[in-house]
Amino acid sequence: MAESNTVGPFTRNVVAQGDSWKLVEQLPDESIDVLVTSPPYWGQRASKGSGVEEDPRQYVADLRKLFELIKPKMKQRGICWINIGDAYNTPVNWRADDHAYSSLGPDATGLAPENSAYSKPRHKRKAFTDKDVPWLTYGNLLSLPYRLVIGMSDDGWLSRGEVIWKKKNPMPEGRCRRPHRQHESIHLLAKDERHNFQLRPPVGSVWEFGSEKIPGLPHYSRFPLELPKRCIDSYGIKGEDVVVFDPFSGSGTTGVAAAQAGCSFIGFEIDDEQVLASNERILATYEAQSSQQKSSSQHVSPTNHTSETADSSAKIFRASRMSNAR
Ligand SMILES: C[S@@+](CC[C@H](N)C(=O)[O-])C[C@H]1O[C@@H](n2cnc3c(N)ncnc32)[C@H](O)[C@@H]1O
Repeated sequence: MAESNTVGPFTRNVVAQGDSWKLVEQLPDESIDVLVTSPPYWGQRASKGSGVEEDPRQYVADLRKLFELIKPKMKQRGICWINIGDAYNTPVNWRADDHAYSSLGPDATGLAPENSAYSKPRHKRKAFTDKDVPWLTYGNLLSLPYRLVIGMSDDGWLSRGEVIWKKKNPMPEGRCRRPHRQHESIHLLAKDERHNFQLRPPVGSVWEFGSEKIPGLPHYSRFPLELPKRCIDSYGIKGEDVVVFDPFSGSGTTGVAAAQAGCSFIGFEIDDEQVLASNERILATYEAQSSQQKSSSQHVSPTNHTSETADSSAKIFRASRMSNAR
Protein backbone atom coordinates (compact mmCIF):
# COMPACT_ATOMS: atom_id res chain seq x y z
CA MET A 1 0.00 0.00 0.00
CA ALA A 2 1.29 3.51 -0.79
CA GLU A 3 2.57 5.21 2.36
CA SER A 4 0.18 8.14 2.15
CA ASN A 5 -2.72 9.35 0.06
CA THR A 6 -0.84 12.45 -0.98
CA VAL A 7 2.35 13.39 -2.79
CA GLY A 8 3.30 16.67 -1.12
CA PRO A 9 0.10 18.77 -1.22
CA PHE A 10 -1.38 16.74 -4.12
CA THR A 11 -3.93 13.95 -3.70
CA ARG A 12 -2.84 10.74 -5.36
CA ASN A 13 -4.77 9.65 -8.46
CA VAL A 14 -6.36 13.08 -8.92
CA VAL A 15 -5.63 15.79 -11.51
CA ALA A 16 -4.93 19.18 -9.91
CA GLN A 17 -6.13 22.27 -11.77
CA GLY A 18 -3.56 24.97 -12.47
CA ASP A 19 -0.47 26.13 -14.31
CA SER A 20 2.22 23.46 -14.30
CA TRP A 21 5.05 25.99 -14.03
CA LYS A 22 3.59 27.05 -10.66
CA LEU A 23 2.29 23.70 -9.37
CA VAL A 24 5.44 21.74 -10.09
CA GLU A 25 7.43 23.63 -7.48
CA GLN A 26 5.15 22.17 -4.79
CA LEU A 27 6.04 18.57 -5.66
CA PRO A 28 8.44 17.03 -3.16
CA ASP A 29 11.98 16.36 -4.41
CA GLU A 30 12.64 12.83 -5.72
CA SER A 31 8.93 11.95 -5.78
CA ILE A 32 8.29 11.01 -9.44
CA ASP A 33 9.09 7.64 -11.01
CA VAL A 34 7.68 7.96 -14.54
CA LEU A 35 6.78 11.17 -16.32
CA VAL A 36 4.67 10.74 -19.45
CA THR A 37 3.45 13.84 -21.20
CA SER A 38 2.57 15.60 -24.39
CA PRO A 39 2.99 19.38 -24.09
CA PRO A 40 0.73 21.61 -26.19
CA TYR A 41 2.24 21.75 -29.68
CA TRP A 42 3.47 25.11 -30.92
CA GLY A 43 0.66 27.15 -32.44
CA GLN A 44 -1.48 24.13 -33.26
CA ARG A 45 -4.50 24.33 -31.03
CA ALA A 46 -6.81 26.86 -29.48
CA SER A 47 -6.10 25.60 -25.97
CA LYS A 48 -5.76 27.50 -22.73
CA GLY A 49 -2.24 27.91 -21.34
CA SER A 50 0.98 27.45 -23.27
CA GLY A 51 1.62 26.58 -26.91
CA VAL A 52 0.33 29.96 -28.14
CA GLU A 53 3.69 31.82 -28.01
CA GLU A 54 4.33 33.81 -31.21
CA ASP A 55 8.06 33.09 -31.19
CA PRO A 56 8.94 29.36 -31.28
CA ARG A 57 12.16 30.17 -29.36
CA GLN A 58 9.99 31.33 -26.45
CA TYR A 59 7.93 28.15 -26.68
CA VAL A 60 11.04 25.96 -26.44
CA ALA A 61 12.61 28.11 -23.69
CA ASP A 62 9.45 27.91 -21.56
CA LEU A 63 9.23 24.12 -21.89
CA ARG A 64 12.93 23.78 -21.13
CA LYS A 65 12.39 25.85 -17.98
CA LEU A 66 9.50 23.59 -16.91
CA PHE A 67 11.62 20.45 -17.29
CA GLU A 68 14.42 22.17 -15.39
CA LEU A 69 11.93 22.70 -12.52
CA ILE A 70 10.84 19.06 -12.81
CA LYS A 71 14.35 17.52 -12.77
CA PRO A 72 14.85 17.59 -8.96
CA LYS A 73 11.33 16.16 -8.51
CA MET A 74 12.28 12.98 -10.40
CA LYS A 75 13.59 9.98 -8.49
CA GLN A 76 17.22 9.26 -9.33
CA ARG A 77 16.21 6.11 -11.24
CA GLY A 78 13.09 7.69 -12.77
CA ILE A 79 12.35 8.20 -16.47
CA CYS A 80 10.73 10.99 -18.47
CA TRP A 81 8.86 10.38 -21.74
CA ILE A 82 7.91 13.42 -23.87
CA ASN A 83 5.70 13.18 -26.96
CA ILE A 84 5.99 16.44 -28.86
CA GLY A 85 5.02 17.37 -32.40
CA ASP A 86 7.12 19.43 -34.78
CA ALA A 87 5.90 22.41 -36.84
CA TYR A 88 6.63 24.01 -40.19
CA ASN A 89 7.25 27.74 -40.11
CA THR A 90 4.05 28.47 -42.05
CA PRO A 91 0.72 29.95 -40.99
CA VAL A 92 -2.02 27.79 -39.48
CA ASN A 93 -5.33 29.41 -40.31
CA TRP A 94 -7.94 26.70 -40.65
CA ARG A 95 -11.50 27.97 -40.58
CA ALA A 96 -14.78 26.07 -40.58
CA ASP A 97 -15.41 26.73 -44.30
CA ASP A 98 -11.90 25.73 -45.48
CA HIS A 99 -13.27 22.49 -46.90
CA ALA A 100 -14.63 24.56 -49.85
CA TYR A 101 -11.16 24.81 -51.47
CA SER A 102 -9.42 22.01 -49.58
CA SER A 103 -7.22 19.53 -51.46
CA LEU A 104 -7.41 16.89 -48.76
CA GLY A 105 -8.59 13.36 -49.42
CA PRO A 106 -7.80 10.63 -51.95
CA ASP A 107 -9.00 12.59 -55.00
CA ALA A 108 -7.66 15.93 -53.64
CA THR A 109 -11.12 17.55 -53.64
CA GLY A 110 -11.58 17.84 -49.90
CA LEU A 111 -13.24 15.79 -47.15
CA ALA A 112 -16.72 16.08 -45.64
CA PRO A 113 -17.27 19.48 -43.97
CA GLU A 114 -17.69 17.85 -40.54
CA ASN A 115 -14.33 16.03 -40.80
CA SER A 116 -12.14 16.93 -37.80
CA ALA A 117 -9.46 18.17 -40.26
CA TYR A 118 -11.67 21.31 -40.58
CA SER A 119 -13.68 21.25 -37.36
CA LYS A 120 -10.86 20.94 -34.78
CA PRO A 121 -10.54 24.21 -32.87
CA ARG A 122 -7.15 25.65 -33.89
CA HIS A 123 -5.04 28.59 -32.94
CA LYS A 124 -4.38 31.17 -35.68
CA ARG A 125 -0.62 31.06 -36.10
CA LYS A 126 1.59 33.24 -38.25
CA ALA A 127 4.93 32.09 -39.61
CA PHE A 128 7.61 33.56 -37.33
CA THR A 129 10.49 34.81 -39.48
CA ASP A 130 13.66 36.67 -38.54
CA LYS A 131 16.07 37.54 -41.35
CA ASP A 132 19.04 37.36 -38.96
CA VAL A 133 18.18 33.83 -37.81
CA PRO A 134 18.40 31.36 -40.73
CA TRP A 135 16.35 28.60 -39.08
CA LEU A 136 13.48 31.09 -38.68
CA THR A 137 12.89 31.18 -42.45
CA TYR A 138 9.44 30.70 -43.96
CA GLY A 139 8.70 27.03 -44.71
CA ASN A 140 11.41 25.54 -42.48
CA LEU A 141 10.58 22.45 -40.45
CA LEU A 142 11.53 23.94 -37.08
CA SER A 143 12.83 20.76 -35.40
CA LEU A 144 11.19 21.84 -32.13
CA PRO A 145 11.40 18.40 -30.46
CA TYR A 146 15.17 18.31 -31.10
CA ARG A 147 15.64 21.90 -29.92
CA LEU A 148 13.90 20.97 -26.68
CA VAL A 149 15.89 17.74 -26.20
CA ILE A 150 19.21 19.49 -26.95
CA GLY A 151 18.27 22.26 -24.48
CA MET A 152 17.35 19.69 -21.82
CA SER A 153 20.64 17.84 -22.41
CA ASP A 154 22.47 21.15 -21.98
CA ASP A 155 20.63 21.45 -18.65
CA GLY A 156 21.90 18.05 -17.49
CA TRP A 157 19.18 15.60 -18.57
CA LEU A 158 20.39 12.49 -20.36
CA SER A 159 18.75 11.89 -23.71
CA ARG A 160 18.15 8.13 -23.70
CA GLY A 161 16.30 7.46 -26.91
CA GLU A 162 13.76 8.42 -29.50
CA VAL A 163 10.70 6.36 -30.34
CA ILE A 164 8.81 6.94 -33.56
CA TRP A 165 5.05 6.76 -33.09
CA LYS A 166 3.86 5.54 -36.51
CA LYS A 167 0.23 6.64 -36.82
CA LYS A 168 -2.33 4.17 -38.11
CA ASN A 169 -4.72 6.99 -38.99
CA PRO A 170 -2.62 10.13 -39.61
CA MET A 171 -4.25 13.50 -40.16
CA PRO A 172 -4.82 13.99 -43.92
CA GLU A 173 -2.75 16.76 -45.52
CA GLY A 174 -3.32 18.71 -48.73
CA ARG A 175 -1.06 19.02 -51.79
CA CYS A 176 2.34 20.10 -50.55
CA ARG A 177 6.00 19.86 -51.61
CA ARG A 178 7.09 17.80 -48.62
CA PRO A 179 6.39 14.39 -47.12
CA HIS A 180 2.99 14.07 -45.50
CA ARG A 181 3.54 13.55 -41.82
CA GLN A 182 2.50 10.15 -40.55
CA HIS A 183 4.57 9.97 -37.37
CA GLU A 184 5.51 11.85 -34.20
CA SER A 185 8.48 11.42 -31.92
CA ILE A 186 8.49 10.37 -28.28
CA HIS A 187 11.72 11.17 -26.41
CA LEU A 188 13.06 9.33 -23.39
CA LEU A 189 15.15 11.30 -20.92
CA ALA A 190 16.53 10.49 -17.48
CA LYS A 191 18.67 11.95 -14.72
CA ASP A 192 20.97 8.96 -14.49
CA GLU A 193 22.17 6.31 -16.92
CA ARG A 194 21.25 3.70 -14.27
CA HIS A 195 17.53 4.50 -14.51
CA ASN A 196 15.00 1.67 -14.25
CA PHE A 197 14.02 0.12 -17.58
CA GLN A 198 12.46 -3.01 -18.98
CA LEU A 199 15.17 -5.23 -20.48
CA ARG A 200 13.18 -8.29 -21.62
CA PRO A 201 11.58 -8.11 -24.07
CA PRO A 202 13.60 -5.12 -25.29
CA VAL A 203 11.66 -1.91 -25.95
CA GLY A 204 11.66 -1.17 -29.69
CA SER A 205 12.02 2.26 -31.26
CA VAL A 206 8.96 2.18 -33.57
CA TRP A 207 5.50 1.96 -32.02
CA GLU A 208 2.43 1.74 -34.23
CA PHE A 209 -1.10 2.49 -33.11
CA GLY A 210 -4.06 4.61 -34.11
CA SER A 211 -5.94 7.21 -32.12
CA GLU A 212 -9.27 6.35 -30.52
CA LYS A 213 -12.41 8.28 -29.57
CA ILE A 214 -13.39 8.64 -25.91
CA PRO A 215 -16.84 9.13 -24.41
CA GLY A 216 -17.64 12.42 -22.66
CA LEU A 217 -15.98 15.81 -23.11
CA PRO A 218 -13.82 15.69 -26.28
CA HIS A 219 -10.12 16.61 -26.19
CA TYR A 220 -8.64 17.41 -29.60
CA SER A 221 -5.00 16.64 -28.89
CA ARG A 222 -5.29 13.48 -26.92
CA PHE A 223 -2.76 10.69 -27.35
CA PRO A 224 -3.92 7.05 -27.61
CA LEU A 225 -4.01 5.05 -24.36
CA GLU A 226 -1.45 2.64 -25.77
CA LEU A 227 1.19 5.40 -25.73
CA PRO A 228 1.32 6.09 -21.95
CA LYS A 229 0.73 2.36 -21.32
CA ARG A 230 3.94 1.46 -23.17
CA CYS A 231 5.86 4.29 -21.48
CA ILE A 232 4.76 3.08 -18.02
CA ASP A 233 5.47 -0.57 -18.90
CA SER A 234 8.98 0.41 -20.03
CA TYR A 235 9.88 1.34 -16.43
CA GLY A 236 9.87 -2.36 -15.58
CA ILE A 237 8.35 -1.80 -12.11
CA LYS A 238 4.70 -1.35 -11.16
CA GLY A 239 2.64 -0.86 -8.00
CA GLU A 240 1.20 1.95 -5.90
CA ASP A 241 4.62 3.18 -4.87
CA VAL A 242 5.41 3.93 -8.51
CA VAL A 243 4.28 7.53 -9.05
CA VAL A 244 3.37 8.42 -12.65
CA PHE A 245 3.17 12.15 -13.45
CA ASP A 246 1.71 14.12 -16.36
CA PRO A 247 2.13 17.93 -16.17
CA PHE A 248 -0.14 18.39 -19.25
CA SER A 249 -2.76 15.84 -18.33
CA GLY A 250 -5.52 16.90 -20.79
CA SER A 251 -8.24 14.27 -20.93
CA GLY A 252 -6.39 12.13 -18.37
CA THR A 253 -5.05 9.41 -20.67
CA THR A 254 -1.82 9.00 -18.66
CA GLY A 255 -3.90 8.76 -15.46
CA VAL A 256 -6.09 6.03 -16.95
CA ALA A 257 -2.97 4.10 -18.06
CA ALA A 258 -1.41 4.53 -14.58
CA ALA A 259 -4.62 3.22 -12.95
CA GLN A 260 -4.73 0.22 -15.27
CA ALA A 261 -1.09 -0.53 -14.43
CA GLY A 262 -1.82 -0.37 -10.68
CA CYS A 263 0.44 2.69 -10.23
CA SER A 264 -0.25 6.01 -8.50
CA PHE A 265 -0.85 9.14 -10.56
CA ILE A 266 -0.44 12.89 -10.26
CA GLY A 267 -1.70 15.12 -13.08
CA PHE A 268 -1.74 18.87 -13.69
CA GLU A 269 -4.08 20.54 -16.19
CA ILE A 270 -4.96 24.20 -16.73
CA ASP A 271 -8.39 23.70 -18.33
CA ASP A 272 -10.94 23.27 -15.54
CA GLU A 273 -13.50 21.44 -17.73
CA GLN A 274 -10.86 18.90 -18.73
CA VAL A 275 -9.85 18.56 -15.06
CA LEU A 276 -13.40 17.60 -14.07
CA ALA A 277 -13.96 15.23 -17.01
CA SER A 278 -10.56 13.56 -16.62
CA ASN A 279 -10.96 13.07 -12.88
CA GLU A 280 -14.22 11.21 -13.54
CA ARG A 281 -12.45 8.95 -16.06
CA ILE A 282 -9.44 8.30 -13.85
CA LEU A 283 -11.55 7.64 -10.75
CA ALA A 284 -13.78 5.21 -12.68
CA THR A 285 -10.66 3.33 -13.82
CA TYR A 286 -9.20 3.08 -10.29
CA GLU A 287 -12.60 1.92 -9.00
CA ALA A 288 -12.90 -0.70 -11.75
CA GLN A 289 -9.38 -1.94 -10.96
CA SER A 290 -10.16 -2.02 -7.28
CA SER A 291 -13.40 -4.01 -7.61
CA GLN A 292 -11.71 -6.42 -10.03
CA GLN A 293 -8.95 -7.01 -7.48
CA LYS A 294 -11.44 -7.30 -4.62
CA SER A 295 -13.39 -10.03 -6.38
CA SER A 296 -10.28 -11.94 -7.44
CA SER A 297 -8.63 -11.71 -3.99
CA GLN A 298 -11.70 -12.39 -1.81
CA HIS A 299 -10.84 -16.08 -1.61
CA VAL A 300 -7.14 -15.50 -1.25
CA SER A 301 -6.47 -12.71 1.24
CA PRO A 302 -8.60 -11.01 3.90
CA THR A 303 -7.14 -7.54 3.08
CA ASN A 304 -6.63 -5.77 -0.22
CA HIS A 305 -4.39 -2.75 0.00
CA THR A 306 -4.93 -1.58 -3.59
CA SER A 307 -8.67 -1.44 -3.00
CA GLU A 308 -8.21 0.49 0.24
CA THR A 309 -6.13 3.14 -1.49
CA ALA A 310 -8.49 3.40 -4.45
CA ASP A 311 -11.45 3.65 -2.07
CA SER A 312 -9.87 6.38 0.02
CA SER A 313 -8.72 8.24 -3.13
CA ALA A 314 -12.34 8.13 -4.27
CA LYS A 315 -13.60 9.54 -0.95
CA ILE A 316 -11.05 12.38 -1.00
CA PHE A 317 -11.83 13.13 -4.66
CA ARG A 318 -15.60 13.25 -4.01
CA ALA A 319 -15.12 15.43 -0.91
CA SER A 320 -12.93 17.87 -2.87
CA ARG A 321 -15.53 18.04 -5.66
CA MET A 322 -18.29 18.78 -3.18
CA SER A 323 -16.30 21.56 -1.56
CA ASN A 324 -15.41 22.97 -5.02
CA ALA A 325 -19.10 22.94 -5.94
CA ARG A 326 -20.04 25.13 -2.95
C1 LIG B 1 -1.35 17.99 -25.97
S1 LIG B 1 -2.53 18.23 -24.71
C2 LIG B 1 -2.31 16.81 -23.69
C3 LIG B 1 -3.29 15.73 -24.00
C4 LIG B 1 -3.16 14.50 -23.12
N1 LIG B 1 -1.93 13.78 -23.37
C5 LIG B 1 -4.33 13.57 -23.38
O1 LIG B 1 -4.14 12.43 -23.80
O2 LIG B 1 -5.48 14.02 -23.20
C6 LIG B 1 -1.82 19.49 -23.72
C7 LIG B 1 -2.64 19.91 -22.53
O3 LIG B 1 -1.89 20.86 -21.77
C8 LIG B 1 -2.78 21.77 -21.17
N2 LIG B 1 -2.01 22.97 -20.77
C9 LIG B 1 -1.59 23.99 -21.55
N3 LIG B 1 -0.87 24.87 -20.83
C10 LIG B 1 -0.82 24.40 -19.56
C11 LIG B 1 -0.21 24.88 -18.36
N4 LIG B 1 0.47 26.03 -18.35
N5 LIG B 1 -0.34 24.13 -17.24
C12 LIG B 1 -1.06 22.96 -17.26
N6 LIG B 1 -1.66 22.46 -18.37
C13 LIG B 1 -1.54 23.17 -19.51
C14 LIG B 1 -3.81 22.01 -22.27
O4 LIG B 1 -5.04 22.51 -21.73
C15 LIG B 1 -3.95 20.61 -22.88
O5 LIG B 1 -5.02 19.90 -22.30
